[in-house]
Amino acid sequence: MQNSEAREYSPVAKLFHWLMAAIIVVAWFVGYYGGAVLHYGVSDAETAQKIWAITLHKSIATTTLFLIVGRLIWRAYHRPPALVDMPDIMKHMTHLGHAALYFLMIAVPVSGWANSSSAGYAIPVAGLFTIPGLGPKNPELTPYLVTAHWFLSWALGLTVLGHLLFALKHHFLDKDSALRSMMPGRSA
Ligand code: HEM
Repeated sequence: MQNSEAREYSPVAKLFHWLMAAIIVVAWFVGYYGGAVLHYGVSDAETAQKIWAITLHKSIATTTLFLIVGRLIWRAYHRPPALVDMPDIMKHMTHLGHAALYFLMIAVPVSGWANSSSAGYAIPVAGLFTIPGLGPKNPELTPYLVTAHWFLSWALGLTVLGHLLFALKHHFLDKDSALRSMMPGRSA
């Protein structure tokens, strides 16, 4: 079993992790603001603010589509360090949690991409260019795809929150190197 102090993620793994984390958190709150806090039909100002927020949300969140492809390719060739000393059942649960994060990091932006495509809206990437729709415009599908994106984005938000709480538990209660191994710089 690997010594907990010897674990260290590589600089590239750390970069993917923290860049992805930052974008997901910002995209989540901007998406929540545009999708749930603001409503159409209240006032012209609120409608304009909602369109602005959802456009910003899409422009930030679509970058994760490119990042996740890069991250998966990179990870296929670089195994992460073994988990810190813990019972096998905890290792299985941890791997399951990480698999859920990877699944949701793909399913959430793809479902958002699909809902915007079905409505026929433009899909901006980082304010630099747009990507084509996932399929032809089909507004009948939009409510279902919006619901799927809502469900998946909340699942991602809660899974990220659980991931954060477990990282803090490792650091403050178990006092092991799990969180430090993902921090910039040396962990030891
Ligand atoms: C990391 C990726 C993403 C995250 C974390 C995310 C998260 C969210 C959240 C939290 C909401 C509000 C849900 C609610 O109403 O409570 C939302 C709404 C929305 N998202 Fe995303 N999203 C992501 C990617 C995308 C992408 C790539 C697109 C489109 C290209 C997109 C399009 C939309 C749209 C159009 C809404 C508003 C739906 C409506 O209420 O009409 N999202 N997103």
